[in-house]
Amino acid sequence: MSDPRVDQSHVLVKRETPTMYFVGVTTGKSSIMKVFPKWSDILGLGAQIVGYDAPIHAEDEVYRAITEHIKSDPLSKGALVTTHKIDLLNATRDLFEYLDPYAQLCGEISSISKRGNQLRGHAKDPITSGLSLQAFVEPGYWGRTGGEVLCLGAGGSAVAISVYFAGLPDAADRPRKFIAVNRSAPRLESLKAIHAKLDTDIEFEYVLNDDPRVNDEIMGKLPPYSMVINATGMGKDRPGSPITDDGLFPENGWAWELNYRGELDFMHQAERQQTSRGVRIEDGWIYFVHGWTQVIAEVFDVTLTPELFAKLDEAASSIRS
Ligand SMILES: NC(=O)c1ccc[n+]([C@@H]2O[C@H](COP(=O)([O-])OP(=O)(O)OC[C@H]3O[C@@H](n4cnc5c(N)ncnc54)[C@H](OP(=O)(O)O)[C@@H]3O)[C@@H](O)[C@H]2O)c1
Repeated sequence: MSDPRVDQSHVLVKRETPTMYFVGVTTGKSSIMKVFPKWSDILGLGAQIVGYDAPIHAEDEVYRAITEHIKSDPLSKGALVTTHKIDLLNATRDLFEYLDPYAQLCGEISSISKRGNQLRGHAKDPITSGLSLQAFVEPGYWGRTGGEVLCLGAGGSAVAISVYFAGLPDAADRPRKFIAVNRSAPRLESLKAIHAKLDTDIEFEYVLNDDPRVNDEIMGKLPPYSMVINATGMGKDRPGSPITDDGLFPENGWAWELNYRGELDFMHQAERQQTSRGVRIEDGWIYFVHGWTQVIAEVFDVTLTPELFAKLDEAASSIRS
């Protein structure tokens, strides 16, 4: 395989315009490439976005190359990191002068920014997944309905969503139970270790499984009004769905597909039960908008008021449709 550091070397050049990097796997396919120029105009940033593609679990030197470049080049302002959030932090921790409490708790960063001589890392996902949930689940929902959460996939998003729930002060805003399913053990172990550091009354259950029929069974036992989250990446990063077409969503519950592009098989399975079982459905678009706006605000030191967010949301939606 070719050396991604060499492939990407043209990206790590001294910049003449303020630049935000997007560290991912297939960054060119993301809607942000079309959305960012519009947002830059609205926010008066005069900035550009540049993608940096690295293979999943890239070598440490790849992560150090991009992080050192951002640190040393004055017009390289920062980055949003996706997919590589844990690996990048593990490889570059010594380069950061500041890591926010969520980055320290979760062992990952989605935002790289600079203030003065400080290179700063933030884990924004507990905040942005929370803002997304607040956008479609009404306050007090969990206390009122007794619904539970089944999170298929125990990676970065499962960490973020569960940490967000655990931090909510009002018990009615927290599900009583959160079940995380993963196809391999390491992610379940690290999720468990993070939960052990939390002071929470949420009952967590960890299930090691990669058989969609078993996921159907777990889903079938959930109480009405529960939420099933597809946090596996299946239907975008990999083909398929973590459940079968026979799986029954909880009555009057929620199906949250974390992605907004790709085949989205899980979401289409939920759509087929929308009327018969009263399933409410959300895709990953609002998560995308909150995720990016929060990191851009950090990188360019912008105060994100609700009015400003609404403008950015509207501009992004006009591109989506
Ligand atoms: N809309 C947005 O802005 C937004 C924001 C965040 C995330 N997302 C999307 O949400 C998805 C998850 O993100 P992430 O950051 O949590 O990814 P991640 O860290 O890669 O986690 C995915 C997890 O799902 C597990 N998995 C895969 N297939 C499975 C299956 N069939 N059954 C059970 N577990 C399975 C993987 O297991 P292994 O450990 O064995 O690999 C991995 O732990 C991605 O597709 C991402 O693009 C979207």
